[in-house]
Amino acid sequence: MRRPMVAGNWKMNGDKALVQQLLGHFKSNIRAENADVVIFAPYPFLYQAEELLSASGIEWGAQNFYIEASGAFTGEVSLGMLKEFGCKYALVGHSERRTLFGETDEMCAAKVKAALGAGVIPVLCVGETLEQRESGVTEDVVGQQVKAVLELVGAEGIGQSVIAYEPVWAIGTGKTATPQQAQDVHAYIRKVVAEQNAEVAEKIQILYGGSVNASTAEELFAMTDIDGGLVGGASLKADDFVTICKAAE
Ligand code: G3H
Repeated sequence: MRRPMVAGNWKMNGDKALVQQLLGHFKSNIRAENADVVIFAPYPFLYQAEELLSASGIEWGAQNFYIEASGAFTGEVSLGMLKEFGCKYALVGHSERRTLFGETDEMCAAKVKAALGAGVIPVLCVGETLEQRESGVTEDVVGQQVKAVLELVGAEGIGQSVIAYEPVWAIGTGKTATPQQAQDVHAYIRKVVAEQNAEVAEKIQILYGGSVNASTAEELFAMTDIDGGLVGGASLKADDFVTICKAAE
């Protein structure tokens, strides 16, 4: 039995007041006993996350990091710095990073390796564009994104990670994948991992992301291979995110 997980990715949104309000609400209303709950806040708010969420059962993490430990890398943030602020998780290869900031499969693999080496759990995001889905290459694309990481860190490494399947066409569009569409790709991802190690494939948490909301969460999370969600827009709505977390329990 895999433990469900719901993660909120705030992306580049929020201010100190909103962070205070949202985290206060989550702390009072989310038990995080039967599901892992994680908030991916922008860097400047990680200090607030640590202050407000410590001992709440809710974890927090960063949306990005750089693989080097320190040095002349202006504008970058290391995993050691994230750990200083109590980050347990970090996103890797979100489609916005792949598309807008040129992150390749190889860079994502290197980031997963660096995170594991630093003791931070990577949440590896994979997913196809609409064009790729319509050309029938979804499995090739997603399979390659997962295999690039498997090649570098092996099944043991991926087994210490979380995978999030996020079809690019469903992100921020209000067009959620149907539970069956998502289930099919989740099962395929598990199959790719199982080719290396069946036990790891059975245990790894695979989240669905892409316009998850308070009304769609329950039926998505009910699918066999969907272990929870990576939630964007709805994680900035206090009551909706609580409802989504309850749907995962
Ligand atoms: O990381 C979260 C995903 O990009 C989903 O975002 O729920 O706003 O579609 P969304």
